[in-house]
Amino acid sequence: MIRLRSFAPRVALTIAVVVLVTSFLGAGWGWLRAQDALRQQLDLVLAAEAEGLVRDYETYGLRGLSEVAEIYSRRQGPLFVLLQTSDGRPISGRLPSAPAALRGFATLRQSGDSAPLRALGAMLPGGANLIVASDLSSVDRAAYALAWTPPLAGALAALVALGLGFLLANGLERRLAGVSDAARAVMAGDLTRRLPESGRGDEFDRLSATINAMLARIETLVAEVRQVTDDVAHDLRSPLSRLRQRLEAALARARDPAADGETLEGALAELDQILSTFAALLRIARTEAGAGREGFASLDLSALAAEVVDIYVPVAEDSGRRIEPSIAPGQRVSGSAPLLRQALANLLDNALNHGAGTIQVSLRPGAVLEVSDQGPGIPPEEREKVMRRFYRLDRSRATPGTGLGLSLVAAVARLHGGALTLREAVSGRGLSAVLELPQAGPAEF
Ligand SMILES: Nc1ncnc2c1ncn2[C@@H]1O[C@H](COP(=O)(O)OP(=O)(O)O)[C@@H](O)[C@H]1O
Ligand SMILES: [Mg+2]
Repeated sequence: MIRLRSFAPRVALTIAVVVLVTSFLGAGWGWLRAQDALRQQLDLVLAAEAEGLVRDYETYGLRGLSEVAEIYSRRQGPLFVLLQTSDGRPISGRLPSAPAALRGFATLRQSGDSAPLRALGAMLPGGANLIVASDLSSVDRAAYALAWTPPLAGALAALVALGLGFLLANGLERRLAGVSDAARAVMAGDLTRRLPESGRGDEFDRLSATINAMLARIETLVAEVRQVTDDVAHDLRSPLSRLRQRLEAALARARDPAADGETLEGALAELDQILSTFAALLRIARTEAGAGREGFASLDLSALAAEVVDIYVPVAEDSGRRIEPSIAPGQRVSGSAPLLRQALANLLDNALNHGAGTIQVSLRPGAVLEVSDQGPGIPPEEREKVMRRFYRLDRSRATPGTGLGLSLVAAVARLHGGALTLREAVSGRGLSAVLELPQAGPAEF
């Protein structure tokens, strides 16, 4: 259904009205101009005719001229010739209404509905009067025809514009209806719905494609949020219910300061674990939202890596492991030192907790940071998944951890415009985590 308030019919209607009004105004003006020009033209014709007749008079005399005037009056033309005496009595020829002794041009009214006459009067040398005249109706008809052609064309154009406008409106309405339907479906909760594309590649298709890309992004984001919410609820339920059970059991028991103290300590440890999970989740969310970018500065990644490794060497030794650093000096990046420190610490934690054997930490020119171990590694099909929040391999259920470490490393990599890649260690055994960061220009001093 086309409504007059729709865009295209409104435009078509406006164009039609403007074309009509201007062409009708133009017609009025054109009519006056054409009439003027044609009358001037007629005066020239009358003058030429009179001149010819005067020449006839000079050659053939009054008798000859009256014969010519008779011929004119017998002819059924728009031109009239009248010859009269100096006091206005007709000698020969014919004129519907004849004034006496006309000199020069004049427009003569006629009785009844007849059109006025344009007349030219001249006195002949012998004293007789010559009047040449023409009916003005043909001139007016021509002026009328000339003046009315443009507005009629204009009216036709207005009609065509109107028709095209309505056609356009129809097409527009149909395409927009598809868009509205899709938008309503999305609003109603069907996030997989997309706007229709005609495949013509026009501006509507381009707009639809852009909006569809946006809808796809929203769909992924919503799915991610849903997943995280599910995961959070799922992962925090067991520690919270464990906590509850402990407290309940303690309450049911006879009061004993030593046992109560132990219970409270256990509860605190459980709570700390829950709080650290929340802290890690929050840090990932903030990093993914771009927080920390404002604290970016050019920093010495080599120094930062060496510093973190120094902290981890004794930790590794305590569990009988060895860290083998190979750090290229002077590698600078633009970034956040606390987040990069945390990322490297997470990778080292993983190598210690999930890996085995010697841990190699290398920083290569180009700001490529790699941590590899000689443990069981991660199967290729799991390497993407372990970067998700809370995802842990089944065999790691017994080892401490929340499944958030690699998520944060990946988020930190993205925040810095870099990437985290997991692959098999060069030794063919164990995991190699590669953190690539964009290199900063030379440091400013
Ligand atoms: N170096 C590694 N060797 C073997 N498996 C690993 C290694 N690093 C991570 N993983 C696996 O990836 C999972 C996710 O790691 P992460 O996100 O750091 O969580 P968390 O360490 O808390 O379990 C771990 O649970 C483990 O199964
Ligand atoms: Mg970890």
